[in-house]
Amino acid sequence: MPRVNVRLQAHSYPVVIGADNTGQLNRLLLKFLGSDRLFLFYDAGFYALHGPALRSRLNLSDKCVTEMVIPSSEKSKSQAILKRIYDFLICNRISRTDLILACGGGVTTDLVGYAAATTLRGIRWAAVPTTLVGMVDAAIGGKTGINHPQGKNLIGAFWQPIFVHEDVTFIQTLTFRQMVAGLGEILKYCGLIGAAMIAPFSVFLGQDDLYRQKDLVALIRLSVRYKASIVERDERDSSVRMLLNFGHTFAHAIERTLGYGRLLHGETVILGILAALELGDLRRAGTVRGLAGYRKIVERSVAFVPRRRINVTSVLDAIAQDKKRRGTDQKYVLLARPGKPFIAGSIDRRLVRKALERMLIFYKGHGGTNAHHPDR
Ligand SMILES: NC(=O)c1ccc[n+]([C@@H]2O[C@H](COP(=O)([O-])OP(=O)(O)OC[C@H]3O[C@@H](n4cnc5c(N)ncnc54)[C@H](O)[C@@H]3O)[C@@H](O)[C@H]2O)c1
Repeated sequence: MPRVNVRLQAHSYPVVIGADNTGQLNRLLLKFLGSDRLFLFYDAGFYALHGPALRSRLNLSDKCVTEMVIPSSEKSKSQAILKRIYDFLICNRISRTDLILACGGGVTTDLVGYAAATTLRGIRWAAVPTTLVGMVDAAIGGKTGINHPQGKNLIGAFWQPIFVHEDVTFIQTLTFRQMVAGLGEILKYCGLIGAAMIAPFSVFLGQDDLYRQKDLVALIRLSVRYKASIVERDERDSSVRMLLNFGHTFAHAIERTLGYGRLLHGETVILGILAALELGDLRRAGTVRGLAGYRKIVERSVAFVPRRRINVTSVLDAIAQDKKRRGTDQKYVLLARPGKPFIAGSIDRRLVRKALERMLIFYKGHGGTNAHHPDR
């Protein structure tokens, strides 16, 4: 069963990845729970599809378990829902040694992880991510938090889980768009890792079935291993962890310009990666080598992104606003070649405009051409 260890100074933890692997989850709970109580949280969408079945497979009959279901929406990452979680934990007399388990997508693990970080000055928590975004990204690395009316993820804490358990059978019920959103982040890791991930991802895309469990386990493992290696070097996001923002400067600006929810974050990451490739190419006057294979899978992925009308000037303004908010020169993660990312600053706005225009020409021609899956 693939397993990745995240090795940090203060503590290390396993990320177990597999299919139909509840036995492993039982072993982890047995190891970490002892005679303490379990506070079990579920995303409502996940609970409706898998909650009772998962619950019946967990060996918890002799344990004290208290459960809560969280509404499935980005809006749940709010002070109002956080307060409901605090009330629930405190009214049920949680103690410092108890364990919190968060089952759901990135919304649930961000929110419940933050509640764990801040209740009684920190309670142990573990994550069972149930979306592809959660498995490759959100549940790994200990960034927890909620949104503020002024922006996403503005309130938060670094609070590492004690284990992460991933079962790809859960993601068989994700919508096609949620699946594509996860692929956006996997595509990011392909660019950062290079050939060792681009090759299996190309084969995966060629099979025309995004739900193949065996391939997903392999791709998730590569993604988690890379993210873990970065988090180990820069837990607090002050240096190399910035590389994980590959494609994200454009993605965040596109999301803001369209209005949150019009495209999923991972869908905009796909567009952002194509724009970053164009920018890298323009900056080096077309001399970036070895990108053909990677560009091919990026372009194939753009075909999964539903079509939306995106205005270049609005995206540029959103990037400029972001720069002002951070008080620094806008940085972009670019590729010298696949597997060789670097951070570039002081880039002429005209070049950024051109990169966006080139990306949008491709998106207009190909976006949404493969946005539907017959069965989902
Ligand atoms: N902490 C981090 O490092 C980090 C990294 C990336 C993203 N994030 C955060 O993650 C969030 C996005 O996460 P997400 O994409 O998982 O979204 P999400 O948690 O909103 O889940 C997406 C949808 O999938 C449903 N769902 C969950 N599991 C399911 C299953 N097995 N089958 C069918 N449906 C299921 C949910 O009900 C929801 O409707 C954002 O808030 C983002 O800020 C955090």
